[in-house]
Amino acid sequence: MADTDSIPETKEFHLGIPQTAEPFPLKGCHHLDWGMKNRLSHIFSPKSGRTVMLAVDHGYFMGPTSGLERIDVTINPLLGYADTLMCTRGVLRSITPPTFNKGVVLRASGGPSILKELSDENIAVSIEDALRLNAAAVAVQVFIGGEFETRSIHNMTRLVDEGNRYGVPVLGVTAVGKQLVRDAKYMRLATRMCAELGAAYVKTYFVSEGFETVTAGCPVPIVIAGGKKMPEAEALTMAFQAVDQGAAGVDMGRNIFQSEAPIAMIQAVRKVVHEHMPPNEAYEYYRSLKAK
Ligand code: 5RP
Repeated sequence: MADTDSIPETKEFHLGIPQTAEPFPLKGCHHLDWGMKNRLSHIFSPKSGRTVMLAVDHGYFMGPTSGLERIDVTINPLLGYADTLMCTRGVLRSITPPTFNKGVVLRASGGPSILKELSDENIAVSIEDALRLNAAAVAVQVFIGGEFETRSIHNMTRLVDEGNRYGVPVLGVTAVGKQLVRDAKYMRLATRMCAELGAAYVKTYFVSEGFETVTAGCPVPIVIAGGKKMPEAEALTMAFQAVDQGAAGVDMGRNIFQSEAPIAMIQAVRKVVHEHMPPNEAYEYYRSLKAK
């Protein structure tokens, strides 16, 4: 029997102090359930409300992309600097150490390779497997204006329904086909559609004109993909402009893992995203780390 003699009789209910409700830092996410918010907090820093997602899922349609030939050698050393890893379940199970205890955003759509029509994707992961892998979110490609636009939207809405059942957020990834113009008008349409149809947050590309209207018109957080490799100073400038104009962070791949100094680059990106460090300072920071 439990020894109850030592339980003190005096209790303090702090009657003068109203119970507080900490505001949730992410735009449009205040009414989500606890599990969903908790998972999002494994992606976005509760302090800055932003994220540096390290995207290494390119192999799901591109094969061994430059920089990702040996993920164990090139990517695992970067894990300590990322807020979140975005990858496929194959890479997660075969290469990623399970001691990685930050958020994993699981690529959950796929099908065609770069050799075929890319928008012909299906859902590629069940929600049960995402839960088994302890995913913080699942990511699905949405091809607005693409040949299989409606199917890609249905892929997303099905995952949203399943995700809502278990508290798993869905990242809607806006993929822009080669024939489409990557401008603010297109990004406004694509991101808003993802949000309206239930994505908890949306990934898109930065556009140099009118990006603030893309973030303003999207009621949930937006993160930007890095896109093709560019000089480090330019990538840092793009990241700065994106967060300055309302993005909640980056989901960056090639501009980190194809950098001459990936560990220095990811740390410089963190400075920009979480501390709003101006790009010229961040570039100097990158150079100083690279020189060490
Ligand atoms: C591939 C993706 C990538 O995760 C995304 O494009 C980010 O990578 P990068 O910064 O290299 O563009 O969704 O479809």
